[in-house]
Amino acid sequence: MADPTVAPLLVAGGTVLDADGSRRADVRIGGDGRIAEVGPDLDADGAQVLDATGCLVAPGLVDLHTHLRQPGKEEAETIETGSRCAALGGYTAVVAMPNTTPTMDSAAVIREVQELGRAALCAVVPSGAITVGRAGEQLSPMAELAELGVTIFTDDGTGVQDDRLMRRALEYASGLGVTLAQHCEVTSLSEGSCMHEGEWSSRLGLPGQPAEAEELMVMRDIALARLTGARVHLQHLSTAGSVALVRAAKAEGLPVTAEATTHHFTLTDACVASYDPVFKVHPPLRTDADVAAVRSGLADGTIDAIATDHAPHTTEEKERPFDAAPPGMLGLETALALALTELTGPDADPRLDVAEVLALLSWRPAAIAGIDDRHGGPVVPGRPANLCVVDADATWTVDRERTASRSRNTPYAGRTLRGRVRHTIYEGTPTVIDGDATR
Ligand code: DOR
Repeated sequence: MADPTVAPLLVAGGTVLDADGSRRADVRIGGDGRIAEVGPDLDADGAQVLDATGCLVAPGLVDLHTHLRQPGKEEAETIETGSRCAALGGYTAVVAMPNTTPTMDSAAVIREVQELGRAALCAVVPSGAITVGRAGEQLSPMAELAELGVTIFTDDGTGVQDDRLMRRALEYASGLGVTLAQHCEVTSLSEGSCMHEGEWSSRLGLPGQPAEAEELMVMRDIALARLTGARVHLQHLSTAGSVALVRAAKAEGLPVTAEATTHHFTLTDACVASYDPVFKVHPPLRTDADVAAVRSGLADGTIDAIATDHAPHTTEEKERPFDAAPPGMLGLETALALALTELTGPDADPRLDVAEVLALLSWRPAAIAGIDDRHGGPVVPGRPANLCVVDADATWTVDRERTASRSRNTPYAGRTLRGRVRHTIYEGTPTVIDGDATR
């Protein structure tokens, strides 16, 4: 990507926090969209000043798991509106999931997303489908898509069911130097379900899917990573068993990475008692014990990244009865604040520090997506200026109507959270100033 020509900026008065630690410093951004100078008390020298007093100045966040719905479902979200949500949430890059219509399984569709992404408020990194139409039968033209810059392939929305095909996909991916990401769900165990199988599904009379529907595929893909030596990234892990399997795989030295979503460490299947479809999601919300295991996985490095699985759905669709409504919830605008509130608060157990949360939201996912040359820091001269400025102590209340999304399906409406994005800077240009999107 060519470097942009932008107005010089000075981010003044904040504390820089990146993978190298924290220091009180201003950040000057040059007309080439790159960080020009980092140090205390820099002169404005004609640059536009963004006040960062009392704030952290961190590498922009990176989401490994965003549904932008374009092409095909623009009534729920577009690349523009989804990227605006991302910017407001502190993100400078999102990996766009391929379950669009048509599927992101061809050069034409990948090019279309890349083209639309150029006008977005953050970097839009298209993932490619592993199989044609995400139907699980025939590999997509992965080499052709990799040539266009695709670094992550997934059939997200479904997992690749066929063991032999998954083995071939891993071998192929390893030759191409790309990463396969898996939505772990054995459909023969999950079919017909709309929530987690357990005490709550029995009480509510709703068909459930067992934790094993996820864990069997986690187990298989770890075995296939061992067999092929290929990298595998496990998406939105939600069960204690999955966390234990990944922990063991990492101890063995296998090339496995994993993400967990904000909802899987903040909500449980008890929420479904309201029968409100806003709590319907795949994989489903699990039990208190699963939430605790996901949190411990985030704390000990078993889980590498926090992802959003931002999944916009129109109000009309989400107002169907629970079993008929589509799964998914919004996430981009609330992820950072949820992580800070729930993982760094005085009652958090285990308790993470802010740097650990930012590692999970920024530099580790940037490395998994293969975009760490531009995103995820460090905040040093010469690097592209992809930054977020966060007031980690400010509180705010989630208002469903104030989202930048075309959809309204946040399960956190009315919740007061700590941690507010003040400014976001993408390739040297502010996309958010004082909490408002610039366009
Ligand atoms: O809840 C979900 N929604 N999980 C998925 O895997 C797909 C996503 C969607 O596309 O709506």
